[in-house]
Amino acid sequence: MVKKHKQQTFLVTGGTGFLGSHVAVGLLSRGHRVLVLARERENASASQRMDRLLNWFGLRKDQRKDLKVLQGDLNRPGLGLNAQDARMVAVEVDETVHCASDTSFSTRRREQVERTNVFGLENLLNVFRESTCRAFHLVSTAYVAGKRKGLCAEDFEQVREFHNVYEETKFRAEAMAAKYCAENRITLHVYRPSIVYGDSTTGRTNLFNGLYYPIRTLHFFQKLYTRDILENGGKKAREMGVRLEKDGVLHLPVRIQSSDECGLNLIPVNYFLEAFMAIRRQCPEGGVFHIVNPRSTTIRRLAEYTRRFFQLEGVRAVDPDEYVKRARNGLELLFDSHIRYYGPYMQDRRIFEHSRTSAILGGQNISCPEFSYPVFTTCMRYAVETDWGRLK
Ligand SMILES: NC(=O)c1ccc[n+]([C@@H]2O[C@H](COP(=O)([O-])OP(=O)(O)OC[C@H]3O[C@@H](n4cnc5c(N)ncnc54)[C@H](OP(=O)(O)O)[C@@H]3O)[C@@H](O)[C@H]2O)c1
Repeated sequence: MVKKHKQQTFLVTGGTGFLGSHVAVGLLSRGHRVLVLARERENASASQRMDRLLNWFGLRKDQRKDLKVLQGDLNRPGLGLNAQDARMVAVEVDETVHCASDTSFSTRRREQVERTNVFGLENLLNVFRESTCRAFHLVSTAYVAGKRKGLCAEDFEQVREFHNVYEETKFRAEAMAAKYCAENRITLHVYRPSIVYGDSTTGRTNLFNGLYYPIRTLHFFQKLYTRDILENGGKKAREMGVRLEKDGVLHLPVRIQSSDECGLNLIPVNYFLEAFMAIRRQCPEGGVFHIVNPRSTTIRRLAEYTRRFFQLEGVRAVDPDEYVKRARNGLELLFDSHIRYYGPYMQDRRIFEHSRTSAILGGQNISCPEFSYPVFTTCMRYAVETDWGRLK
């Protein structure tokens, strides 16, 4: 088969998502040709959706010339591509970056999550059987480690228990990709980021889950009870033990069960992208790569940052032994029910080995920024200014 383009051509799935859009834009800005597989949704075609995103990134027209949007769906046979696009995928793609995924943790959505993360991947791999693609980049997650405690190897490991359907299906997807790529002599890179937040220098993000969700919940409570106190006499706030101090600080009595050995492993999206590009470049032989922060952030520290930034009092991390001595108050019940799927991550003791990735990135002077209070402030300012993505 003769290639039409001199540039390296990438197929990127999940280009309308958080990491996929950053990868697509990152590749375009580095002069590559990018085919994005995207769905039409809510009366917008795949191209219209990508256009909106590229505007958000501020990508100039001349930087978009090497982008082609292929309308399709992982869950449809042949990815739902028309004949012309299917042919393009078969004969023009050199490398594929698979970022598309259903990232829901909800057990109720098991069937849908499984369909996208496992069977959708199978559909994608089937398309490659007869294609020019020789390298497959799978964006997975460090949390394929499941309920493992302590050190999690930067390698394929046997895991039997998972916290949710997301972890389980991502684990199964890795195993499927490994088998397929070995059998078809395709190089496989498995990238396992931990929890990704916005750009550490600008705070910009196009997804507000992970780190943001519990904080957004507290911010929602803050707005709700402040309004109740200032506009409606404060009955609801009093029932929940919420009060507004004279200095404007809101007392929100929410304990979060977590000890100092636990924490969230947080990496900014700019670090993920730099790491992804460097690993792809430096490691043509593929492998498994933990793109993680060498230092997790304790929930105690996150609670302290949240209190300081949002002018709150009462939100604090409490050791599990101490926590169970007192029944949960109404606000804690409400908070826990809002963040129920994130519960296990509040008590996360997993440590991700990262020696292979660190050796590659260290050689390129790439390191994970510390999740400091100034970084937190930058990210939360953006979150609040955009009303957690509603005004982006
Ligand atoms: N964000 C994180 O903190 C994080 C951390 C670790 C690992 N990861 C991994 O990184 C990858 C990307 O995650 P993300 O945070 O960018 O998620 P995201 O913003 O939710 O994006 C998911 C993408 O997958 C697409 N998609 C879902 N089902 C599809 C289907 N049937 N056909 C075609 N496209 C489909 C979505 O398209 P629509 O826009 O049409 O829905 C969207 O573009 C995932 O593999 C995730 O496991 C993410």
